[in-house]
Amino acid sequence: MKIMNLGSLNLDKVYAVRHFVQAGETVLADRCEVHCGGKGLNQSIALAKAGAEVLHLGKIGPDGTALEQILSCSGVDVSLLLPSENDSGHAIIQVNTDGQNSIIVYGGANQEITPAEIDQALTRMCAGDLFLTQNETSCVPYALQKAKKVGLKTVFNPSPITQELLGYPLELVDLLILNETEAEALAGHSGSYAALLELLVAKYPGTEIILTAGKDGSYYGFGGCRVYQQAIQARAVDTTGAGDTYCGYFIASRARGMEVKPAMELASRAAAIAVSRKGAASSIPSLSELK
Ligand code: RIB
Repeated sequence: MKIMNLGSLNLDKVYAVRHFVQAGETVLADRCEVHCGGKGLNQSIALAKAGAEVLHLGKIGPDGTALEQILSCSGVDVSLLLPSENDSGHAIIQVNTDGQNSIIVYGGANQEITPAEIDQALTRMCAGDLFLTQNETSCVPYALQKAKKVGLKTVFNPSPITQELLGYPLELVDLLILNETEAEALAGHSGSYAALLELLVAKYPGTEIILTAGKDGSYYGFGGCRVYQQAIQARAVDTTGAGDTYCGYFIASRARGMEVKPAMELASRAAAIAVSRKGAASSIPSLSELK
């Protein structure tokens, strides 16, 4: 089974700060580094490292050579990577002393993908293959509709949440992977993880739900089935990309027929390693490291 990922590619400008900057405040950063990232790129790399055959559909500018290189060195098919005359997407990321992050994303070339480019890319896929996307590129609702129409299984990571996203055709999604903030936005309520899961399972009865809860583990719900996986403890150096690592490992494991519980456990172990390292894409472990 092939996986197509329509996803962002960002240059992450990462600032190590003692605390996140507040309104009206100026803080001095202790370090600044540039890493490859973007939820799309991170998830493609995690998929490939977990053993999946993945094609990345995305757009980069002339400044994006490193983004293409890291994908291709990680085993991702980059033949659907499109050029733009404009700058690639970028992210401004604060990482505090607890390893937590705060992120601003600027879309850049990620927001230039057109319906015609999606149609063209989908001709590379066969019914039964898998289509994944997040919410950092243009044409996400269009792509979900078209992917479903050509018989692909659809996976959506609704991140970041926007007002527009609440109107996307989410009933077309076969697997939704989201965190607490995203779950609250879609459910229209706050509550415990278990309560949020129930609300989402009821709202999207045809969709498998994975709710990731950081150090509180992860939750699965579909029909009458519920599965809980505790988080694997790790010293947090930089949590950026840990959710993407979980997504990639869970999806790749399920795509090769693994049951839900072991797939959640493997994804949790991969995410634990990712939080213990700096950067997003560069922190994603290989399957052999997990073994
Ligand atoms: O999920 C982490 C990612 O979010 C970062 O790499 C950043 O680029 C943003 O897309």
